[in-house]
Amino acid sequence: MEKQPSVLTSLLLVKSRLFEVTLNRTLLTWKEVHLRRKKVSGNISNRLRFGVHSVPVSEIIAVRETEVDKGTKAEGKWQKMTHITIETHLCAFTVSYVEKTGQHRWRSSNMTFFCSDETVCQQWVRTLKEQLSLLTCRPKHLLVYINPYGGKQQGKQIYEHKVAQLFTLASISTDVIVTEHANHARDHLKTQADLRKYDGIVCVGGDGMFSEVVHGLIARTQSDSGVDLNDSQAKLAQCNLRIGIIPAGSTDCICYATVGVNDPVTSALHIIVGDSQPMDVCSVHHHNTFLKYSVSLLGYGFYGDVLTDSEKNRWMGPARYDFSGFKTFLSHHYYEGTISFLPATNTLGSPRDSSRCRSGCYVCQHRVKDISPIKWGEGGDVSENEFEGEWKAIKGKFLAINAASMSCACPRSPKGLSPAAHLADGTTDIILVRKCSRLNFLRHLLRHTSKDDQFDLTFVEVYRVKKFKFTPKHCDSELSDIRDVRENAFGQICRDHPSCDCTPVNSNWNCDGEILEHAAIEVGVHCQLIKLFARGIEENPPFEEDVSPSAV
Ligand SMILES: *[C@@H]1O[C@H](CO)[C@@H](O)[C@H](O)[C@H]1NC(C)=O
Ligand SMILES: *[C@@H]1O[C@H](CO)[C@@H](O)[C@H](O)[C@H]1NC(C)=O
Repeated sequence: MEKQPSVLTSLLLVKSRLFEVTLNRTLLTWKEVHLRRKKVSGNISNRLRFGVHSVPVSEIIAVRETEVDKGTKAEGKWQKMTHITIETHLCAFTVSYVEKTGQHRWRSSNMTFFCSDETVCQQWVRTLKEQLSLLTCRPKHLLVYINPYGGKQQGKQIYEHKVAQLFTLASISTDVIVTEHANHARDHLKTQADLRKYDGIVCVGGDGMFSEVVHGLIARTQSDSGVDLNDSQAKLAQCNLRIGIIPAGSTDCICYATVGVNDPVTSALHIIVGDSQPMDVCSVHHHNTFLKYSVSLLGYGFYGDVLTDSEKNRWMGPARYDFSGFKTFLSHHYYEGTISFLPATNTLGSPRDSSRCRSGCYVCQHRVKDISPIKWGEGGDVSENEFEGEWKAIKGKFLAINAASMSCACPRSPKGLSPAAHLADGTTDIILVRKCSRLNFLRHLLRHTSKDDQFDLTFVEVYRVKKFKFTPKHCDSELSDIRDVRENAFGQICRDHPSCDCTPVNSNWNCDGEILEHAAIEVGVHCQLIKLFARGIEENPPFEEDVSPSAV
């Protein structure tokens, strides 16, 4: 890297030690210096270390002049060390910056620099502030939604005790709304919020809260641009406001997948420094009616049934997921239907890659440009196939059909459902698990396969796609209430349950943790529709120890 010309260099005192402090366009560096001493006692020389610290200017949170008590010890030390008599009085400035403490965790740290002279001090503060003002990606006004009921009901405390003072320190102003009911944030964003006032939206809560904000923001953006939400072929307008997630829920998978850790302070600092991580969003339609957006997992069969069952057992608390998971595993239901999809042709990655989507991901940044862009809803005179390639259809009996738009890694499942999925490459990974033995299904769930390729099982198929459709064996057109259709052992529709022991014909789709009301759905991936205040998971964060077991 070329050495940058320095903007400012001074000798300053830090904790009574002398440092050469240098600011260039990208880095603030402080390096301990030794002045020649007449007597060097072993005691002193042991204490002096050559420490060099540097902080990217982009990770400085704030700078301010600091009050110094007259006649402090520091003043005496300064004179002793430099043999310079201070003419005016000693003054100081403090830099608050991001410190990376390992495992993707960030903290704010303060460093106070003492100057011998007020002009030097003011020059430093002014110059640093100027450099910070050039960072136009940083938000100044934020709209904050706090879900006080999510997770351990700590949303308000987390925001007030860990986040608010950091925003204040960074001179970010906020309008805070504590939500009072489900969909409060979504509806407020959709219709009321004056979004022109803000540089971003922050949600304090879990994945459910994030989903509300995503739904509100996308709906608002589309209505402002005159896009019909019910049109499954419409090209959606990109949302320019970034979303920050302060994790405070019972599941915080989106935060984990985009920051690498569920930690409110880390997330607040990513917001302050103005990080930006684009993200794909799937739109889900039933015929020509909009149902939902999904950013992580659409699951039919196993994951749909686990969610359906756990909703019945809410009284159990978080344990219901394990309980329902076990119950669903034992029931071993399979479901018939046809999945058709449009394979992704414009991405460099594949679901069976060993590489992972990480900060500054090459695959997300280098999507092969569509030779002719996808004509979402433009109705050009060239047929869909010529633009998009061939649709493929697979009919069968499935234990699970999953569409993962991201790895879906979380602390409980660190590899995730589709470890090589990308956050922003415009695709989703369809994982089909065909009818198989319980033992085999267990092998899939535990993903006990070769280290790099967890899809190496004969009854599992995986496809990276841009769009897909699912048609269950029995569709709404035939039967009035498809959610509760059962059939007997002879494959005949049964209308007499629950007295019979017939099995349900259809499962439900689990869409990012919510049950969809239709089994027949059409899904399209909208590439980089939204942006988060995040930078993706950093591959080798500085100062992080390599603790991955594969390194052994
Ligand atoms: C840094 O200084 C600010 C402002 O004085 C203070 O609010 C904050 O708590 C300090 N942070 C640390 C880590 O000491
Ligand atoms: C979409 O369609 C549904 C049902 O057909 C209708 O109730 C809803 O108002 C429509 N939404 C929009 C935005 O047009």
